[in-house]
Amino acid sequence: MPIIFHKELQEFHLYNEEISYVIHILPNGHIGNLYFGKRIDPYKTYNHLFEETFRPLAAYVYEGDNGFSLQNTRQEYPTFGLSDFRKGAFLIKQESGSEISDFKYESHKIMKGKSVLPNLPQTYVENKEEATTLEIVLFDEVIESKLKLYFTIFEDRPVVTRSSSFLNLSNKLITIEKAMSFNLDLPDTNYNMIQLNGAWGRERHVHNRNIKEGTQGFYSLKGASSAEFNPFFALRRPNTDEFSGEVLGFSLIYSGNFAAEVDVDTYNQTRVMMGIHPDRFSWKLNLNEEFYTPEAVIVYSDRGLNYMSNVYHSLYRECLMRGKWKNSVRPILLNSWEALSFSIDEEKIKKLATNASKLGIELFVLDDGWFGERNNDKAGLGDWTVNKEKFPNGLNGIINCINDLGMNFGIWIEPEMVNKDSNLYRNHPDWIIHDPTRRPSHTRNQYTLDFSRDEVVEYIYSKIEKLLSDYNISYIKWDMNRYITECYSKTKENNLQGTVYHKYILNVYKMYDKLTKKFPNVLFESCSSGGARFDPGMLYYAPQTWTSDNTDAIERLKIQYGTSFVYPLISMGSHVSECPNQQVFRETSLETRGNVAYFGNLGYELNVNNLLDDEKEKIIKQIQFYKENREAFQYGEFYRIKNPYSNNIAAWMIKSKDEKTVILGCYKILNHANEGKERIKLVGLDTNETYKLNHPYEKYFKGDELMNIGISINNEDFCNNGNDFSSVLYVLRKL
Ligand code: DGJ
Repeated sequence: MPIIFHKELQEFHLYNEEISYVIHILPNGHIGNLYFGKRIDPYKTYNHLFEETFRPLAAYVYEGDNGFSLQNTRQEYPTFGLSDFRKGAFLIKQESGSEISDFKYESHKIMKGKSVLPNLPQTYVENKEEATTLEIVLFDEVIESKLKLYFTIFEDRPVVTRSSSFLNLSNKLITIEKAMSFNLDLPDTNYNMIQLNGAWGRERHVHNRNIKEGTQGFYSLKGASSAEFNPFFALRRPNTDEFSGEVLGFSLIYSGNFAAEVDVDTYNQTRVMMGIHPDRFSWKLNLNEEFYTPEAVIVYSDRGLNYMSNVYHSLYRECLMRGKWKNSVRPILLNSWEALSFSIDEEKIKKLATNASKLGIELFVLDDGWFGERNNDKAGLGDWTVNKEKFPNGLNGIINCINDLGMNFGIWIEPEMVNKDSNLYRNHPDWIIHDPTRRPSHTRNQYTLDFSRDEVVEYIYSKIEKLLSDYNISYIKWDMNRYITECYSKTKENNLQGTVYHKYILNVYKMYDKLTKKFPNVLFESCSSGGARFDPGMLYYAPQTWTSDNTDAIERLKIQYGTSFVYPLISMGSHVSECPNQQVFRETSLETRGNVAYFGNLGYELNVNNLLDDEKEKIIKQIQFYKENREAFQYGEFYRIKNPYSNNIAAWMIKSKDEKTVILGCYKILNHANEGKERIKLVGLDTNETYKLNHPYEKYFKGDELMNIGISINNEDFCNNGNDFSSVLYVLRKL
């Protein structure tokens, strides 16, 4: 069993080949942390790491004892208000108004596999041997409630997942005002914090800062995980780079409001926590009601950032994504949005589809504009029936044509939203999230439907369920183009308004769950003005996400590079779009657009009716190339080699699962005159094996040569590959 309980010292040791996570029951019954990091001997005990220290002004737990203070103790799920003055991981308000709680160890269970968090997205195992779970139950005798802490260690991955739940066993109401998913106290402060920040069109750029005394962190209070801050961060040692050194990764499987906090005290201790944002959150529990926090995934790597990412990639591919598409290669799609925007009709779509099919496209996606009076972004959202003026033969008029052309058909929806100019709004003006005493703000002329109300979700579900039942649809792009404002739900009693944000996202999950169960063959892609809801919660239901509305290849380097810190390439929708680019007006060659888009889930988003013959030929070749190497791009191991933020030449590489195919992508951000040479060293190859370079020229290399000397990046290689000199792919096969 990879979890040992050392009864005499009340110590739990969770371990596998790579990591150890050691916790213990403190003298007051709370749970303390002794160690988390590289594996140490699990049969030894580490209770000596629990140090009782005298400090002036500290508060002590027991009379007559000046040693045991929670302030100086590393804890797993601390409470504020006893002898710890730092922020607690949770807060419970009692009917009396008291916010003090004192949960003490009552029992524990060690079980194979993972326990299930009801109604939440979460990692899972298919076979119970793949993970072991420790559930610790604590009890507060004043509140008469239980707190359960869940720790799962995966068998072959340096991963611990954490979550907690609260169960009220008394007749008195309790209100949870804060419930983070985990807390981790670290014994020093020598860390550099990495986070993925951005905005629309520049999502998930990598940002760094050294942590300092005080609180540092980031959050979303937008009702979505957001384009601005992704629910992930890492703490690395200052000398850690992509391929060496220690790093801890923290990723939250949640798509709503969240907070990520690193609190450094003045005694060299670092407190880390993450979970639902406590602002605008409160959850009442009556007798026998239980509240579960979302799951957090903690990864330890002593082999640098890239290994941490590889661990997240394989975990999220294998233990988060589900259903048919978990193990199926994803189709190469053509999306109508950048080609036609709202200006669509049967004839235009048929023409676009006919030309797309000639290129080798497998899935044709009809984006926005097909329903209601949706001729621009001012009307139609909410009316999920086909616009008969544009499509006089209904959707089947185009679906049959697309299917006859040998392609599958996919369609865009934005089920959480409504325009005021829609039948849905005219019939149900009270269905939007708003405060009836105030004017609601809009984004893109649209309003958020109150998904915290079951009847609203059921109505929308019935419309989408009908759409999927009536037509041969094999793909859904589920968009969400605004954040929540004036968060107030009309039907909730005033004192329940704190549930709205969380209930909203739980009902989004519920609708996804029902649709994916009812239509298991449909591939879902989530989207939120590009990548504003690119998070692991969404990936549980929709195994791919539209990475960004910014389809410029050079901009995409930064976006896809940052996204790869947590999310696997197969989850990233990446499309070749038209030139000059619609977002930044840059010119890049078709080759470079392809060379960037390959490192993700390839698609096209341009008007293929307007292509020149040589462009068609190039796209046909690109699609062939991607099909030949699709398994490598979608299921291979990804290596970040040179970052696009501080280098003029950026590089990344993929190695197929069978390790035979290696593709290195190099990208020159700006062209300079008379440049020097550069070498790129590959990683993760077999030292003694021979690799044949097939592109851009033929040559044989030994693995050790490629890794220690590298490939010389010559200007001629870039020239060979197009007319903008800005990228080159090196394609190698192991012999
Ligand atoms: C925002 C998405 O990110 C785009 O790809 C497109 O689907 C538009 N919405 C359509 O309104």
